[in-house]
Amino acid sequence: MLFRQLFDATSWTYSYLLADPASGDAVLIDSVFEQHLRDAALIRELGLALRYTLETHAHADHVTGAWLMREHVGSAIVVSASSGAQGADRYVDDGDRIEVGSLALEVRATPGHTSGCVTYVTADHAMAFTGDALLVRGAGRTDFQEGDARRLFRSIRERIFTLPPACLLYPAHDYAGRTVTTVREERAFNPRLGGEAREEDFVGYMNHLGLPHPRQIDVAVPANLRCGKPADGRGTPARPSFGPLVYTHGGIWELGPLWVAEHRAELQLVDVRNDAELDGELGQIEGARSMPLDVLRDRLGELDRRMPIVTVCQSGVRSAQAARILEASGFVEVANLAGGMIRWQELGLPVARRRSP
Ligand SMILES: [Fe+2]
Repeated sequence: MLFRQLFDATSWTYSYLLADPASGDAVLIDSVFEQHLRDAALIRELGLALRYTLETHAHADHVTGAWLMREHVGSAIVVSASSGAQGADRYVDDGDRIEVGSLALEVRATPGHTSGCVTYVTADHAMAFTGDALLVRGAGRTDFQEGDARRLFRSIRERIFTLPPACLLYPAHDYAGRTVTTVREERAFNPRLGGEAREEDFVGYMNHLGLPHPRQIDVAVPANLRCGKPADGRGTPARPSFGPLVYTHGGIWELGPLWVAEHRAELQLVDVRNDAELDGELGQIEGARSMPLDVLRDRLGELDRRMPIVTVCQSGVRSAQAARILEASGFVEVANLAGGMIRWQELGLPVARRRSP
């Protein structure tokens, strides 16, 4: 079997590409919306045909790339029947099998983090993809969505820990750089439910995690219940041809600050903040052209249509709006600076303190 573990550094999510090398048929587990170009490129380069995107559950911390991958490569969307998601092509239940070429995955219901959580297990029980049910030395939170610590304890003990001790377990996230574990390891060392831990221990532990509310939950859960389809149903705008672009769920092409800093000379930087902000503590990027958002439409003639444009503001919100205005005016080579001047400054990139003449 061909196997690739992929990582999204923004949401700390692992996606998994599995394929039958003989037929080229592939599945992608827990894809991330903003990573669809990366994933599609890998699939193309490896000569694979993506048959399914699979979800372990309706995620609260990122939007799935399932809908976008279906738009781009025609893959069918698979979700669990109890996830509550609408618009999938196939709904699976406990005991179902997903087959592409010689590759077969067994569906095990592992509710508790959400009520629709499933674990995908390879037919030989050598690998399992546990989503947020079981993490490396941890377990998915049970304090939002339909979280239920007792249910999760039983799911892990009865449906995951009963796999062979050497079975490799691949989680949907890790926050400490770990990539994989095994049933044997988690049974021995998982501090929440390994060793002699009983259900009451686990429930007590999980009920006192005291974690903040997930930042993305209000956007991610509704979007994932539509399998990642944007609320306004729009398609992807024309793709600019420069830079390592990321397409956001908000419908904007973005570039990271490090790439923009390295390629500044090849770009037109358009700063859409107002005059007073340019003198503020965030400063501005040397050579950026000041075109405040409220006059942008009137000044489009000043821009060179042959040179790629990167829009800039304080946090990346107004500049996203500016990128939309430019796209609507026929500019294709446009991208937004992700995170705006705030992220630019956090990364220690150079700023000009004085206003350029
Ligand atoms: Fe989750």
